[in-house]
Amino acid sequence: MTKFSIAVTEGDGIGPEITAEVIKVLKKVGETDRIEVEFVDAPSGGAAYKKYGNALPDDTLKIYRDCDAIFKAPVGVPDLPPGLIEHEAILRARQELDLYVNLRPAKIYPGMENLSPLKDRVIAKGFDVTIVRENSEGLYSRRGTKTADRATDESVFTKRGVDRIIRFAFDYARKAGKTKVTSVDKANILFTSQYWRSRFEEIKKEYPGFETESIYVDAMSQYLIRCPERYQVVVTDNMFGDILSDETAQIIGSLGLCAGANLNPETKTGMFEPIHGSAPDIAGKGIANPISAILSAAMMLDFLGQAKSASKVEAAVQKALADGCRTGDIAQGMPWLPTSKFGDEVAKRI
Ligand code: NAI
Ligand code: MG
Repeated sequence: MTKFSIAVTEGDGIGPEITAEVIKVLKKVGETDRIEVEFVDAPSGGAAYKKYGNALPDDTLKIYRDCDAIFKAPVGVPDLPPGLIEHEAILRARQELDLYVNLRPAKIYPGMENLSPLKDRVIAKGFDVTIVRENSEGLYSRRGTKTADRATDESVFTKRGVDRIIRFAFDYARKAGKTKVTSVDKANILFTSQYWRSRFEEIKKEYPGFETESIYVDAMSQYLIRCPERYQVVVTDNMFGDILSDETAQIIGSLGLCAGANLNPETKTGMFEPIHGSAPDIAGKGIANPISAILSAAMMLDFLGQAKSASKVEAAVQKALADGCRTGDIAQGMPWLPTSKFGDEVAKRI
Protein backbone atom coordinates (compact mmCIF):
# COMPACT_ATOMS: atom_id res chain seq x y z
CA MET A 1 0.00 0.00 0.00
CA THR A 2 1.37 3.42 -1.00
CA LYS A 3 0.44 6.26 1.33
CA PHE A 4 0.14 9.98 0.64
CA SER A 5 -1.06 12.99 2.58
CA ILE A 6 -2.84 15.59 0.51
CA ALA A 7 -3.56 19.10 1.76
CA VAL A 8 -7.03 20.06 0.57
CA THR A 9 -8.21 23.64 0.20
CA GLU A 10 -11.91 23.61 -0.61
CA GLY A 11 -11.85 27.26 -1.57
CA ASP A 12 -14.85 29.45 -2.32
CA GLY A 13 -17.79 29.55 -4.69
CA ILE A 14 -17.89 26.28 -6.65
CA GLY A 15 -14.71 25.16 -4.81
CA PRO A 16 -16.36 22.82 -2.29
CA GLU A 17 -18.58 21.29 -5.00
CA ILE A 18 -15.73 20.35 -7.30
CA THR A 19 -13.46 19.34 -4.40
CA ALA A 20 -16.03 16.74 -3.35
CA GLU A 21 -15.73 15.17 -6.81
CA VAL A 22 -11.94 15.16 -6.63
CA ILE A 23 -12.06 13.33 -3.31
CA LYS A 24 -14.59 10.86 -4.71
CA VAL A 25 -12.35 10.09 -7.68
CA LEU A 26 -9.14 9.89 -5.62
CA LYS A 27 -10.80 7.51 -3.17
CA LYS A 28 -11.91 5.32 -6.05
CA VAL A 29 -8.50 5.20 -7.69
CA GLY A 30 -7.01 4.63 -4.24
CA GLU A 31 -9.16 1.52 -3.86
CA THR A 32 -8.32 0.10 -7.26
CA ASP A 33 -4.61 0.94 -7.18
CA ARG A 34 -3.86 0.34 -3.49
CA ILE A 35 -3.07 3.95 -2.68
CA GLU A 36 -4.02 5.24 0.74
CA VAL A 37 -4.71 8.95 0.69
CA GLU A 38 -5.04 11.03 3.82
CA PHE A 39 -6.87 14.30 3.15
CA VAL A 40 -5.82 17.18 5.41
CA ASP A 41 -8.13 20.18 5.51
CA ALA A 42 -6.18 23.35 4.66
CA PRO A 43 -8.54 26.33 4.84
CA SER A 44 -7.66 29.27 2.63
CA GLY A 45 -9.54 31.95 0.67
CA GLY A 46 -12.63 34.01 1.38
CA ALA A 47 -14.29 31.52 3.72
CA ALA A 48 -11.06 31.21 5.72
CA TYR A 49 -10.74 35.00 5.85
CA LYS A 50 -14.22 35.34 7.27
CA LYS A 51 -13.56 32.64 9.87
CA TYR A 52 -9.94 33.32 10.87
CA GLY A 53 -9.38 36.89 9.67
CA ASN A 54 -6.67 35.61 7.33
CA ALA A 55 -7.04 34.28 3.78
CA LEU A 56 -3.89 32.19 4.16
CA PRO A 57 -3.56 31.17 7.82
CA ASP A 58 -0.09 30.12 9.05
CA ASP A 59 -1.49 26.71 9.95
CA THR A 60 -2.55 26.21 6.35
CA LEU A 61 0.87 27.17 5.08
CA LYS A 62 2.36 24.62 7.47
CA ILE A 63 -0.03 21.93 6.21
CA TYR A 64 0.93 22.86 2.65
CA ARG A 65 4.60 22.39 3.54
CA ASP A 66 4.09 19.15 5.46
CA CYS A 67 1.87 17.23 3.03
CA ASP A 68 3.08 15.28 0.00
CA ALA A 69 1.00 17.43 -2.35
CA ILE A 70 -1.67 20.11 -2.31
CA PHE A 71 -5.05 20.16 -4.00
CA LYS A 72 -6.44 23.67 -4.07
CA ALA A 73 -9.86 24.65 -5.33
CA PRO A 74 -10.32 28.23 -6.54
CA VAL A 75 -10.73 31.08 -4.07
CA GLY A 76 -12.35 34.51 -4.27
CA VAL A 77 -15.65 35.94 -3.08
CA PRO A 78 -17.68 38.76 -4.62
CA ASP A 79 -18.54 40.43 -1.29
CA LEU A 80 -14.93 41.41 -0.45
CA PRO A 81 -12.77 43.91 -2.36
CA PRO A 82 -11.01 42.35 -5.37
CA GLY A 83 -7.49 41.30 -4.52
CA LEU A 84 -7.92 41.00 -0.76
CA ILE A 85 -8.28 37.24 -0.90
CA GLU A 86 -6.41 36.57 -4.13
CA HIS A 87 -3.18 38.32 -3.06
CA GLU A 88 -2.88 36.11 -0.01
CA ALA A 89 -4.44 32.81 -0.97
CA ILE A 90 -3.13 32.67 -4.52
CA LEU A 91 -0.08 34.89 -4.93
CA ARG A 92 1.43 34.62 -1.45
CA ALA A 93 0.86 30.86 -1.35
CA ARG A 94 2.73 30.49 -4.64
CA GLN A 95 5.51 32.80 -3.50
CA GLU A 96 5.94 31.28 -0.01
CA LEU A 97 6.33 27.83 -1.56
CA ASP A 98 8.30 29.23 -4.50
CA LEU A 99 5.99 27.50 -6.96
CA TYR A 100 7.57 29.13 -9.95
CA VAL A 101 6.01 26.92 -12.60
CA ASN A 102 2.39 27.19 -13.60
CA LEU A 103 1.70 24.35 -16.00
CA ARG A 104 -1.55 24.49 -17.95
CA PRO A 105 -2.05 21.81 -20.58
CA ALA A 106 -5.08 22.07 -22.87
CA LYS A 107 -5.95 19.44 -25.42
CA ILE A 108 -8.98 18.44 -27.40
CA TYR A 109 -9.64 14.75 -26.90
CA PRO A 110 -10.29 12.83 -30.12
CA GLY A 111 -14.00 12.93 -30.85
CA MET A 112 -14.53 15.99 -28.64
CA GLU A 113 -13.87 18.53 -31.40
CA ASN A 114 -17.50 19.67 -31.23
CA LEU A 115 -16.87 21.16 -27.76
CA SER A 116 -14.51 23.70 -29.30
CA PRO A 117 -15.90 27.00 -30.55
CA LEU A 118 -13.37 26.86 -33.41
CA LYS A 119 -14.31 25.63 -36.87
CA ASP A 120 -13.55 22.01 -37.76
CA ARG A 121 -11.03 23.03 -40.42
CA VAL A 122 -9.05 25.08 -37.86
CA ILE A 123 -8.71 22.20 -35.42
CA ALA A 124 -8.51 19.48 -38.05
CA LYS A 125 -4.96 18.68 -36.90
CA GLY A 126 -6.03 18.62 -33.26
CA PHE A 127 -5.25 20.99 -30.43
CA ASP A 128 -2.67 20.17 -27.79
CA VAL A 129 -1.02 23.25 -26.32
CA THR A 130 0.62 23.55 -22.92
CA ILE A 131 1.11 26.96 -21.43
CA VAL A 132 4.18 27.14 -19.19
CA ARG A 133 3.61 30.28 -17.19
CA GLU A 134 6.15 31.97 -14.94
CA ASN A 135 4.42 31.95 -11.58
CA SER A 136 6.50 33.88 -9.07
CA GLU A 137 7.32 37.30 -10.46
CA GLY A 138 6.44 39.64 -13.35
CA LEU A 139 3.44 41.87 -12.79
CA TYR A 140 2.19 39.52 -10.06
CA SER A 141 5.08 40.29 -7.72
CA ARG A 142 2.69 42.05 -5.31
CA ARG A 143 4.82 45.21 -5.48
CA GLY A 144 2.98 48.37 -6.28
CA THR A 145 1.32 51.46 -4.93
CA LYS A 146 -2.22 52.74 -4.91
CA THR A 147 -3.35 56.21 -3.91
CA ALA A 148 -6.44 58.21 -4.82
CA ASP A 149 -4.64 59.75 -7.87
CA ARG A 150 -2.27 57.09 -9.08
CA ALA A 151 -1.51 53.41 -9.03
CA THR A 152 1.53 51.43 -10.11
CA ASP A 153 2.51 47.81 -10.39
CA GLU A 154 6.14 46.86 -10.42
CA SER A 155 6.94 44.14 -12.94
CA VAL A 156 9.91 42.17 -11.68
CA PHE A 157 11.93 39.96 -14.02
CA THR A 158 15.10 38.45 -12.54
CA LYS A 159 17.69 36.34 -14.34
CA ARG A 160 17.08 33.52 -11.90
CA GLY A 161 13.32 33.75 -12.35
CA VAL A 162 13.33 33.98 -16.13
CA ASP A 163 16.04 31.41 -16.76
CA ARG A 164 14.51 28.74 -14.58
CA ILE A 165 11.06 28.88 -16.19
CA ILE A 166 12.47 28.85 -19.71
CA ARG A 167 14.66 25.86 -18.86
CA PHE A 168 11.65 24.15 -17.32
CA ALA A 169 9.69 24.65 -20.54
CA PHE A 170 12.40 23.00 -22.63
CA ASP A 171 12.85 20.16 -20.13
CA TYR A 172 9.10 19.63 -20.05
CA ALA A 173 8.90 19.69 -23.85
CA ARG A 174 11.69 17.14 -24.12
CA LYS A 175 10.05 14.82 -21.60
CA ALA A 176 6.70 15.14 -23.34
CA GLY A 177 8.24 14.34 -26.74
CA LYS A 178 7.44 17.79 -28.15
CA THR A 179 9.53 19.38 -30.86
CA LYS A 180 8.78 23.07 -30.58
CA VAL A 181 8.88 25.73 -27.86
CA THR A 182 7.29 29.13 -28.45
CA SER A 183 8.13 32.10 -26.26
CA VAL A 184 5.54 34.85 -25.89
CA ASP A 185 6.40 38.40 -24.86
CA LYS A 186 5.84 42.05 -25.74
CA ALA A 187 9.43 42.92 -26.56
CA ASN A 188 8.43 45.66 -29.00
CA ILE A 189 7.20 47.72 -26.04
CA LEU A 190 8.26 46.40 -22.65
CA PHE A 191 11.80 46.43 -21.22
CA THR A 192 10.96 43.38 -19.16
CA SER A 193 9.93 41.53 -22.32
CA GLN A 194 13.15 42.55 -24.08
CA TYR A 195 15.03 41.01 -21.18
CA TRP A 196 12.85 37.89 -21.33
CA ARG A 197 13.45 37.53 -25.07
CA SER A 198 17.21 37.90 -24.73
CA ARG A 199 17.24 35.18 -22.06
CA PHE A 200 15.12 32.93 -24.28
CA GLU A 201 17.58 33.43 -27.15
CA GLU A 202 20.44 32.51 -24.84
CA ILE A 203 18.89 29.51 -23.11
CA LYS A 204 17.54 27.91 -26.28
CA LYS A 205 21.17 27.29 -27.28
CA GLU A 206 21.32 24.76 -24.44
CA TYR A 207 18.52 22.81 -26.14
CA PRO A 208 19.55 22.14 -29.74
CA GLY A 209 17.07 20.16 -31.79
CA PHE A 210 14.01 22.18 -30.82
CA GLU A 211 12.19 24.44 -33.20
CA THR A 212 11.81 27.76 -31.41
CA GLU A 213 10.23 31.13 -32.01
CA SER A 214 9.32 34.32 -30.14
CA ILE A 215 5.93 35.92 -30.70
CA TYR A 216 4.33 39.11 -29.38
CA VAL A 217 1.43 38.41 -27.08
CA ASP A 218 -1.16 40.36 -29.06
CA ALA A 219 -0.27 38.43 -32.20
CA MET A 220 -0.26 35.17 -30.26
CA SER A 221 -3.79 35.70 -29.02
CA GLN A 222 -5.02 35.63 -32.61
CA TYR A 223 -2.67 32.90 -33.89
CA LEU A 224 -4.07 30.58 -31.22
CA ILE A 225 -7.49 30.76 -32.81
CA ARG A 226 -6.32 31.02 -36.40
CA CYS A 227 -3.57 28.40 -36.66
CA PRO A 228 -3.42 26.55 -33.33
CA GLU A 229 -1.64 23.58 -34.91
CA ARG A 230 1.57 25.61 -34.92
CA TYR A 231 1.92 25.49 -31.14
CA GLN A 232 2.98 22.83 -28.67
CA VAL A 233 4.69 24.28 -25.60
CA VAL A 234 4.31 28.00 -24.97
CA VAL A 235 6.48 29.66 -22.34
CA THR A 236 5.56 33.11 -21.13
CA ASP A 237 5.44 35.47 -18.19
CA ASN A 238 2.96 35.55 -15.35
CA MET A 239 0.45 38.00 -16.80
CA PHE A 240 0.46 36.76 -20.40
CA GLY A 241 0.27 33.14 -19.23
CA ASP A 242 -2.76 33.93 -17.09
CA ILE A 243 -4.58 35.40 -20.06
CA LEU A 244 -3.52 32.99 -22.81
CA SER A 245 -4.39 29.97 -20.67
CA ASP A 246 -8.00 31.14 -20.37
CA GLU A 247 -7.95 31.36 -24.15
CA THR A 248 -6.58 27.83 -24.63
CA ALA A 249 -9.16 26.54 -22.11
CA GLN A 250 -11.96 28.11 -24.08
CA ILE A 251 -10.56 26.67 -27.31
CA ILE A 252 -10.95 23.14 -25.91
CA GLY A 253 -14.49 23.99 -24.86
CA SER A 254 -14.66 25.47 -21.36
CA LEU A 255 -12.67 26.82 -18.45
CA GLY A 256 -14.16 23.83 -16.65
CA LEU A 257 -12.01 21.45 -18.70
CA CYS A 258 -8.56 22.81 -18.09
CA ALA A 259 -6.27 21.54 -15.34
CA GLY A 260 -3.33 23.27 -13.75
CA ALA A 261 -0.29 22.64 -11.61
CA ASN A 262 1.90 25.01 -9.60
CA LEU A 263 5.29 23.41 -9.19
CA ASN A 264 8.75 23.74 -7.81
CA PRO A 265 10.64 20.83 -9.38
CA GLU A 266 13.72 21.40 -7.20
CA THR A 267 11.93 21.26 -3.83
CA LYS A 268 9.44 18.77 -5.26
CA THR A 269 6.49 20.86 -4.14
CA GLY A 270 3.26 20.73 -6.09
CA MET A 271 -0.06 22.52 -5.73
CA PHE A 272 -2.74 21.38 -8.14
CA GLU A 273 -5.74 23.49 -9.01
CA PRO A 274 -8.13 24.17 -11.88
CA ILE A 275 -7.22 27.19 -13.93
CA HIS A 276 -10.63 28.79 -13.46
CA GLY A 277 -11.88 30.90 -10.57
CA SER A 278 -14.53 30.34 -7.91
CA ALA A 279 -17.34 31.08 -10.42
CA PRO A 280 -19.63 32.83 -7.92
CA ASP A 281 -22.27 33.17 -10.65
CA ILE A 282 -22.97 29.42 -10.56
CA ALA A 283 -21.88 28.58 -6.99
CA GLY A 284 -24.16 26.44 -4.85
CA LYS A 285 -26.23 25.28 -7.81
CA GLY A 286 -24.47 21.95 -8.27
CA ILE A 287 -23.86 22.65 -11.94
CA ALA A 288 -20.11 23.37 -12.05
CA ASN A 289 -17.95 21.25 -14.31
CA PRO A 290 -15.59 19.22 -12.07
CA ILE A 291 -13.34 18.06 -14.94
CA SER A 292 -10.67 20.74 -14.50
CA ALA A 293 -10.42 19.83 -10.82
CA ILE A 294 -10.37 16.08 -11.49
CA LEU A 295 -7.70 16.44 -14.20
CA SER A 296 -5.67 18.61 -11.82
CA ALA A 297 -5.85 15.71 -9.36
CA ALA A 298 -4.62 13.42 -12.15
CA MET A 299 -1.62 15.72 -12.61
CA MET A 300 -1.10 15.43 -8.85
CA LEU A 301 -1.03 11.62 -9.03
CA ASP A 302 1.54 11.84 -11.79
CA PHE A 303 3.64 14.22 -9.67
CA LEU A 304 3.42 11.73 -6.80
CA GLY A 305 4.94 9.06 -9.05
CA GLN A 306 1.61 7.33 -9.76
CA ALA A 307 1.64 7.76 -13.54
CA LYS A 308 -0.57 4.71 -14.15
CA SER A 309 -3.26 5.93 -11.77
CA ALA A 310 -3.04 9.40 -13.28
CA SER A 311 -3.65 7.97 -16.77
CA LYS A 312 -6.56 5.96 -15.40
CA VAL A 313 -8.24 9.11 -14.10
CA GLU A 314 -7.67 10.96 -17.36
CA ALA A 315 -8.98 7.98 -19.33
CA ALA A 316 -12.10 7.84 -17.11
CA VAL A 317 -12.83 11.50 -17.84
CA GLN A 318 -12.29 10.92 -21.53
CA LYS A 319 -14.54 7.85 -21.48
CA ALA A 320 -17.31 9.69 -19.62
CA LEU A 321 -17.21 12.42 -22.27
CA ALA A 322 -17.10 9.90 -25.10
CA ASP A 323 -20.13 8.15 -23.58
CA GLY A 324 -22.02 11.42 -23.82
CA CYS A 325 -21.84 12.56 -20.17
CA ARG A 326 -21.90 16.35 -20.03
CA THR A 327 -22.13 19.20 -17.56
CA GLY A 328 -24.11 22.32 -18.38
CA ASP A 329 -21.18 24.41 -19.65
CA ILE A 330 -20.37 21.86 -22.37
CA ALA A 331 -23.86 20.49 -23.05
CA GLN A 332 -24.53 22.29 -26.36
CA GLY A 333 -28.14 21.17 -26.28
CA MET A 334 -27.44 17.65 -25.00
CA PRO A 335 -28.91 16.46 -21.69
CA TRP A 336 -26.45 17.14 -18.89
CA LEU A 337 -25.64 16.04 -15.37
CA PRO A 338 -25.20 17.96 -12.16
CA THR A 339 -21.65 18.15 -10.74
CA SER A 340 -21.99 15.24 -8.35
CA LYS A 341 -23.60 12.88 -10.87
CA PHE A 342 -20.90 13.70 -13.39
CA GLY A 343 -18.30 12.87 -10.72
CA ASP A 344 -20.08 9.52 -10.16
CA GLU A 345 -19.80 8.77 -13.88
CA VAL A 346 -16.06 9.44 -13.83
CA ALA A 347 -15.52 7.39 -10.66
CA LYS A 348 -17.53 4.52 -12.16
CA ARG A 349 -15.19 4.38 -15.15
CA ILE A 350 -11.99 4.06 -13.12
P1 NAI B 1 -14.13 32.34 -13.19
O1 NAI B 1 -13.12 31.46 -13.82
O2 NAI B 1 -14.53 32.00 -11.80
O3 NAI B 1 -15.46 32.35 -14.09
C1 NAI B 1 -15.50 32.80 -15.43
C2 NAI B 1 -16.72 32.16 -16.12
O4 NAI B 1 -16.46 30.77 -16.34
C3 NAI B 1 -17.98 32.23 -15.29
O5 NAI B 1 -19.08 32.45 -16.12
C4 NAI B 1 -18.08 30.88 -14.64
O6 NAI B 1 -19.39 30.47 -14.31
C5 NAI B 1 -17.45 29.98 -15.69
N1 NAI B 1 -16.78 28.82 -15.08
C6 NAI B 1 -15.61 28.83 -14.40
N2 NAI B 1 -15.33 27.60 -13.96
C7 NAI B 1 -16.33 26.80 -14.33
C8 NAI B 1 -16.61 25.41 -14.14
N3 NAI B 1 -15.80 24.60 -13.47
N4 NAI B 1 -17.76 24.92 -14.66
C9 NAI B 1 -18.61 25.72 -15.35
N5 NAI B 1 -18.40 27.03 -15.57
C10 NAI B 1 -17.26 27.57 -15.06
O7 NAI B 1 -13.57 33.81 -13.27
P2 NAI B 1 -14.03 35.15 -12.54
O8 NAI B 1 -15.51 35.23 -12.50
O9 NAI B 1 -13.25 36.20 -13.18
O10 NAI B 1 -13.49 35.02 -11.05
C11 NAI B 1 -14.26 34.66 -9.91
C12 NAI B 1 -13.37 34.69 -8.68
O11 NAI B 1 -12.37 33.67 -8.77
C13 NAI B 1 -12.60 36.01 -8.51
O12 NAI B 1 -12.58 36.30 -7.13
C14 NAI B 1 -11.21 35.68 -8.99
O13 NAI B 1 -10.23 36.49 -8.45
C15 NAI B 1 -11.09 34.26 -8.52
N6 NAI B 1 -10.06 33.44 -9.22
C16 NAI B 1 -9.37 32.55 -8.46
C17 NAI B 1 -8.44 31.73 -9.02
C18 NAI B 1 -7.70 30.77 -8.15
O14 NAI B 1 -8.06 30.52 -7.01
N7 NAI B 1 -6.63 30.17 -8.62
C19 NAI B 1 -8.15 31.79 -10.47
C20 NAI B 1 -8.97 32.72 -11.19
C21 NAI B 1 -9.89 33.54 -10.58
MG1 MG C 1 -6.57 33.33 -14.45
